[in-house]
Amino acid sequence: MSKQHRFFSHETLEKNIGWLIVCTIVVVSIAGFVQILPLFFQHSTTQPDPGITPYTPLRLMGRDIYIREGCVGCHSQQVRTLQAEVERYGHYSTAGESVYDHPFLWGSKRTGPDLARVGGRYSDDWQRIHLRNPRDVVPESVMPSYPWLEQTPLPTADVRQRMRTLRALGVPYTDAEIAEAPAQLQGKTEEDALVAYLQGLGTNRRNVRVDAETQASAKE
Ligand code: HEC
Repeated sequence: MSKQHRFFSHETLEKNIGWLIVCTIVVVSIAGFVQILPLFFQHSTTQPDPGITPYTPLRLMGRDIYIREGCVGCHSQQVRTLQAEVERYGHYSTAGESVYDHPFLWGSKRTGPDLARVGGRYSDDWQRIHLRNPRDVVPESVMPSYPWLEQTPLPTADVRQRMRTLRALGVPYTDAEIAEAPAQLQGKTEEDALVAYLQGLGTNRRNVRVDAETQASAKE
């Protein structure tokens, strides 16, 4: 029985590594295009969620310290859409919450808990003690201590440049906000900035929900 061998058969692909590579690239490119491209135009991924505003200068500096100290290596900032996660941390994360995050800090490693909704969960004092020595509040903690943050004054010189860079990436800072930024950092330490950053995480959504409920009850 003679085996029919047409050029446009799967056999051609399977036996010719060059064709296989070319065709794989074509298929993956089309699929990637179809999946990824719409995300750049879709409102749910490009518009900020209600209550999401650009970071204040202090929180912005705190975020940069969070990045510098590698907190993202042990803490994720994305609550997944699983019941156990939502019950533990709160509402699952949405893309609209991260529109001003360049780069985003979703992370994938959870040696410690997720921090996407940690804002307001503890007092400022708790956060400070915990950063200086986690074992003082959580005896079994394996989180490193960050005692130098308390002693390091926050640099004020380059915050304008940081804000301008973010503006180039689409964060709507005004000229006035950028001009006033260094004054808001006067006399602050790195710890102040990091605590301000942590205490704001996920609070926008919480505040908005409270507002919506207040409005709903006011209408009744
Ligand atoms: C080596 C891994 C590791 C690193 C790095 C790390 N953490 Fe943690 N973190 C943990 C662990 C484990 C816990 C849980 C025990 C505890 O509360 O200390 C935790 C808890 C926390 C909590 C309390 C969360 C909650 O919901 O109870 C906060 C806030 C926190 N870390 C912030 C930070 C910040 C900010 C940094 C960077 C300056 C950082 N962590 C770096 C491991 C880490």
